[in-house]
Amino acid sequence: MSYCLNPNCPKPVNTNGGNFCLTCGSKLLLKERYRAIKPIGQGGFGRTFLAIDEDKPSKPPCVIKQFYPQAQGTSTVQKAVELFTQEAMRLDELGRHPQIPELLAYFTQDDRQYLVQEFIDGLNLAQELEQKGAFNETQIRQLLNDLLLVLQFCHARQVIHRDIKPENIIRRITPQPSAPPLTKGGTGGGLVLVDFGAAKEATYTALNRTGTSIGSPEYVAPEQIRGRAIFASDIYSLGVTCVHLLTQLSPFDLYDINNDTWIWRQYLKSPVSNELSRILDKMLESIPVRRYQTVDEVLQDLKGGQQLTPKPVSQPVKPVTSSPPTSTPVSINKTTSQIDIELEEMKTLFLQGGHAKSNKKTEFQPQPQTPQPSSSKSEIDAELEELKAKYKNGDF
Ligand SMILES: Nc1ncnc2c1ncn2[C@@H]1O[C@H](COP(=O)(O)OP(=O)(O)O)[C@@H](O)[C@H]1O
Ligand SMILES: [Mg+2]
Repeated sequence: MSYCLNPNCPKPVNTNGGNFCLTCGSKLLLKERYRAIKPIGQGGFGRTFLAIDEDKPSKPPCVIKQFYPQAQGTSTVQKAVELFTQEAMRLDELGRHPQIPELLAYFTQDDRQYLVQEFIDGLNLAQELEQKGAFNETQIRQLLNDLLLVLQFCHARQVIHRDIKPENIIRRITPQPSAPPLTKGGTGGGLVLVDFGAAKEATYTALNRTGTSIGSPEYVAPEQIRGRAIFASDIYSLGVTCVHLLTQLSPFDLYDINNDTWIWRQYLKSPVSNELSRILDKMLESIPVRRYQTVDEVLQDLKGGQQLTPKPVSQPVKPVTSSPPTSTPVSINKTTSQIDIELEEMKTLFLQGGHAKSNKKTEFQPQPQTPQPSSSKSEIDAELEELKAKYKNGDF
């Protein structure tokens, strides 16, 4: 059984194990060794196939990603070529982690680019959700503990994944024996993060430049929509993934665009503790300064050893409520949200021409290049954090 890799082949299914397609005559073996068996994914710029490596005696399974951008304008194709090459580079760097597929080969054949990677046996979380129904709190906590460790590994290597969503997370059927030491605190490395096509190295220039907006609209953080992905953008997408898995509803239905607020709690299939709800809400903050900044912060709150900062005032859990989730108040004159809004406004002034308010969902347009301020964003962030601390301590 083989699947012809020629995108124009009228009858790609070949029942034989030969070397050439019976219909169009194309080679069925890539690099004389990788044989595609069946398609398992189709994106905008290519296809993904389950394949086997015939060069090895055990003929192990592998995955072929074929890149063939359909004409969408030269600059888009150029960007796609860049992303595909980046995916290979990222996998080469990161694929030694048991929860990231290993890159086996990267080459061009018949004018098409290919990437061969380790096959992860299991369902992706979109398929799992469809088969098993909504997740509960325990499953979400396990998922977060598992995936945050992979994200920590990527972020430490300056890579922002930029396309975290259920389809790009596979639950491995047989956890790797090598997984536990690297995933301390996780559940044995069952979850694997795939699709590094949109991943980008967060160099200083990349972080401070208005880039191209990449990702899946329902899961993408507002700043990433504007082409400015930061590490916290992955945290946001992971938060969206969680509320989708908890409710089995499209993230678009979990967001009240009129009130600019998440309403996922209304649609829960099983109750979720106040503690986890607050963690998820903080992962889902539209304004980056109000969101968790690092994976470590989320992990710490998940451990429950430390209170969320600022200290939360206990609120009754209302699994079914029509009122939007409120932001966490603090027991000082000004609430944190007021402070954050004021600081965000100041920051907008600093940054000249940014948007203080999230325009999520209505604005899935890459922004044109904006002039950069003289002080860097991180300097401003540090200054604002300092001011915020003073506010909270009542120094003002
Ligand atoms: N290494 C892998 N092992 C097993 N299945 C994979 C692997 N990589 C991707 N897949 C499956 O194929 C689908 C498409 O692959 P992906 O890399 O996400 O491509 P796309 O860019 O088209 O989204 C994924 O959603 C996942 O279910
Ligand atoms: Mg994908």
